Amino acid sequence: MFKIKRPSLCDPEMPLVCLSDFEMYAKEHLPKSTWDYYADGADECCTRDDNLMAYKRIRLHPRMLRDVSVTDMRTTIQGTEISFPIGIAPTAFHCMAWHDGEMSTARAAEAMKTCYIASTYATCSVEEISTAAPDGFRWFQLYVYQNRKLSEHLIHQVEAHGYKAIVLTVDLPYTGKRRNDIRNNFKLPPHLKVKNFNGFFEELNGNEEYGAPANSLDSSISWKDIYWLRSLTQLPIILKGILTKEDAELAVEHGVQGIIVSNHGGRQLDGGPATIDALPEIVETVQGRIEVYLDGGIRTGSDVLKALALGAKCVFIGRPVVWGLAYKGEEGVKEILQILSDEFRLSMALSGCRNISEINRSLIQFSKL
Ligand code: LAC
Repeated sequence: MFKIKRPSLCDPEMPLVCLSDFEMYAKEHLPKSTWDYYADGADECCTRDDNLMAYKRIRLHPRMLRDVSVTDMRTTIQGTEISFPIGIAPTAFHCMAWHDGEMSTARAAEAMKTCYIASTYATCSVEEISTAAPDGFRWFQLYVYQNRKLSEHLIHQVEAHGYKAIVLTVDLPYTGKRRNDIRNNFKLPPHLKVKNFNGFFEELNGNEEYGAPANSLDSSISWKDIYWLRSLTQLPIILKGILTKEDAELAVEHGVQGIIVSNHGGRQLDGGPATIDALPEIVETVQGRIEVYLDGGIRTGSDVLKALALGAKCVFIGRPVVWGLAYKGEEGVKEILQILSDEFRLSMALSGCRNISEINRSLIQFSKL
């Protein structure tokens, strides 16, 4: 009797060819509570899932016979060149996915010549991350705590270690309700620490939320605090978590240098828009006065193309980086970036674009109602 041999992602001979292959691998190999922490969205996960679905509703309007024998994906963000418009979004606790966590992520980003936004919730310190990849291009994602001395300390640290921008997350005055984390009583494994909190939150006494004392975030943060942040640093300030044209206008008026259109991977407000759906009104409002980026739901090269066609200067990927780490650390993250950028290059060429400046709204098929 014949038995058909089914391909399995556990089979080392079987190449992982797209980002969702890495997702399956990570799901099979990470401990359940770790997988759940990374995968979960808030409440019913509608916004998390819509981040992906929204791309599938958009159709391209490709052009042919345009000599795409040479293509160039390079672009700049905040004046620095990157080899393709795909960076690494801040995600927490990389040492849960791979033993040296953020250091591997940093080395992968450096090797691939793209930007890595290190998280406040890193399990390596900002110094360890910059030492691991001294020539890497990095930004730092900041949360603001009631103890503002912590933010000031972190800003001094990242300035001293060559980070090139502060990415202020604005969608987390409180942490969203992730049901699986509650069910699993998720806690950072005891051998790991949020090293950025060293010297600040020593006594957690079990009353912790994601490696910090519960209720320690400053939920009073408001637009005036942009001026406070500006008084602390000359680095570009990027606001991550903007979803409306009104807030985009306020961001420009408050003098920030960029916006990341983001809903925190659907982990904060459930019921908010998919980021690709929120992008057009923000781009229209900003009118090129500052750079607009996007994260959330990017899984294929054509997703990247759609985001750029709708006005994003660059996209950032979150969960796929963790899947890459879970697969093979630095090598896994490099593979994720290689596969996604190869797919992006192919999508560009198949729609008639030779370089980034040729990608614009005419590539989107708007349905005639
Ligand atoms: C999260 C926080 C830590 O989304 O950013 O889990």
